[in-house]
Amino acid sequence: MSKVQVMDHPLIQHKLTILRDKNTGTKDFREAVNEIARLMAFEVSRDMPLQDVEIETPLVKSIQKELAGKKVAIIPILRAGLGMVDGMLDLIPAAKVGHVGMYRDHETLEPVEYFVKLPSDINERQLLVVDPMLATGGSAIAAIDSLKKRGASTIKFVCLVAAPEGVEALEQAHPDVEIYTAALDERLDENGYIIPGLGDAGDRLFGTL
Ligand code: URA
Repeated sequence: MSKVQVMDHPLIQHKLTILRDKNTGTKDFREAVNEIARLMAFEVSRDMPLQDVEIETPLVKSIQKELAGKKVAIIPILRAGLGMVDGMLDLIPAAKVGHVGMYRDHETLEPVEYFVKLPSDINERQLLVVDPMLATGGSAIAAIDSLKKRGASTIKFVCLVAAPEGVEALEQAHPDVEIYTAALDERLDENGYIIPGLGDAGDRLFGTL
C-alpha cells in the first residue's frame, strides 16, 4: 500500500500560493518551483539510511554518521518535470539524472512516451520521479511502468499539486511507490486540469502560454 505525504510546511505552502496565482510570471514561477523542489528534497530524503564512520575532529577520534544505502537518480517526466531538477540537485548534488518524455494527448488524455534516457544502473538506485502535476496519473503510471520494465525497483514520486483521482490511480497501479506532494487539491475538471491547481505547469515554467 503506498502512502501519500502532503508537505504542508509553511514555506512550501507560501511558495505554492505564488505558483497558483495567475499573475505570477515565468521568472517568478520558475524560481518558486525550484525553491519548492529544494524544500521537498529535504523531506523526501528524510528516511535515507545512515552508517557509522570513524573520523578525527581536531580534538579526538569520533564515530559519526554518513549516508549509506542506495545512490539517487532524479527522473523528471518531460517537460514540466525539468523545472524541479535543479532544486533537488541543490540538496542531492551527486544524483544522476535520467529523462522520460511523456506528453498527454489533449483529446484522449492518454500519455504517449517519446523519449527515455536513463543512467545504466537504475536498478541499484533510489529513483525520484518528478513531475509538478499529478492529474489523471496517466503520465506518472506510464513513466513508472517504463522504469520498472528497465529494472527499477525503488521509486518515489514527487509532485507539487496532486488531484485525488491521480493519487488513487497511481496508488492502484504502483502501490509500492510513495507519493510526496505539496498539495492535494479538490478534483480534475472535464479537460483533465487540476482544480484549483495552477494551470499548465509546463507552459507556465517555459513561457509557452
Ligand atoms: N498538467 C498540468 O500542467 N496542469 C494540470 O492542471 C493538469 C495536468
